[in-house]
Amino acid sequence: MGKRTRAVAPMAGSAAEPPFERTTHPDAQWFGNAGLGLFVHWGISSVDRGIDLSWGMMADKPWGGGTITPEQYFALAPRFSPRHYEPDRWLAAAREAGFAYAVMTAKHHDGFALWPSAHGHFGVRQHLQGRDLVRPFVEACRRQGLRVGLYYSPPDWFWHRHHMSFRYGSTGAPGREHLGLRHEPLSCVAPEPAGFDDDFRAYVRGQALELLTAYGNIDVLFFDGGPAALSVNEIRQLQPGIVINPRAHGEGDYLTPECEMPARPLPGWWELCEIWPPSCGWGYSDRYPGSSHREYRTVGWLLSRFVRVRSWGGNYLINCGPMADGRMPRTYYQRLRELGAWMGHSGESLLGTQAGPYPEVGTVPITVRGTTWYLHVGLGHQGPIRVRGAARAPRAVRLQRTGEPVRWRFLRGVLTLEPSIYVWTGLDDVFAIEWGG
Ligand code: GLC
Repeated sequence: MGKRTRAVAPMAGSAAEPPFERTTHPDAQWFGNAGLGLFVHWGISSVDRGIDLSWGMMADKPWGGGTITPEQYFALAPRFSPRHYEPDRWLAAAREAGFAYAVMTAKHHDGFALWPSAHGHFGVRQHLQGRDLVRPFVEACRRQGLRVGLYYSPPDWFWHRHHMSFRYGSTGAPGREHLGLRHEPLSCVAPEPAGFDDDFRAYVRGQALELLTAYGNIDVLFFDGGPAALSVNEIRQLQPGIVINPRAHGEGDYLTPECEMPARPLPGWWELCEIWPPSCGWGYSDRYPGSSHREYRTVGWLLSRFVRVRSWGGNYLINCGPMADGRMPRTYYQRLRELGAWMGHSGESLLGTQAGPYPEVGTVPITVRGTTWYLHVGLGHQGPIRVRGAARAPRAVRLQRTGEPVRWRFLRGVLTLEPSIYVWTGLDDVFAIEWGG
């Protein structure tokens, strides 16, 4: 396993060991406490504006969302023309709001490569005169001081389009027939010809190698399924400082729960990914109310999720979908400004902090920096703000936003804060407890 040894840093949040050995390379260690990442799902689906990236061509998805046939979906490719692609603007705004890294879909399940890959037959090489959309993203990340992440889906529905069903969970049974490229019922899915799978693996391998060799240092590689056409060791030989998720190999450096807060802190490094707009789709769409990327959930909502993740020692990867022309919707910038304003006074309570004690000792989430504990009170919190099991009374308690002192009581190891009724903002109101040395 080369440089990788079983070295699991003790985490305040959890005693359990992660299910795999993670990298000990010094260049990768930033990820353990990265904080906030920007997930960017982008591709040809944004041309339609009514469907999710890739999933838009899958019929009968249990989670809903718009549907078009794969034939119609793939026909979006020639109309994808990001005239106003401005990754510097996206990422500068994210950086100012406290983001530390960004991860963009170089290729999603639909198989459309955003870089001019020499492998396969579907991507910007065929449809955008070879214009590379990955490179400007990578370079903008570096210019804006963000770590560079690429998402890559080995599962490829363009490659497999004649040998798969486009109905979610189809079995072939009556009522659950397989669906083809025009969503026509199929009596069976056509079997793959001899050598098909070998070609597919060579293609996935070729594409992954391109991403790992053509763009300089890549900090994070986010696979989304298999096959793992090259081993973790091979990847690390090419990119020694890289951080890899386990979705292709079943092993890697961190766990990746999706859209659902784990019930407790996860072992090792971990990252929760979620969608910022109130949508079940990752890619931009705006034609259906209720699933629109024109709206974004509030900063209070985002903070409530981010705080919980940080109090358990994880990272938070929040997803935004650029429009087909390469711009982010206006709401994206508005929310980032609001978040940045909050970070200006209270960001130190979440960025670069450690997990709070676990099992939990407070009635609200806690993050830790040295001898300071931050208590996070979100909208909707009811009841006392309390920490139990404290060895001694604090030196000081202040409201992070203003620095003003906050009243408290300490009785038999239980610290209770008694802030005035005027402090609540409905975002995340942070109280900093200074315990002293
Ligand atoms: C799921 C979805 C995919 C999305 C990913 C993000 O795997 O299928 O659309 O890219 O989650 O984590």
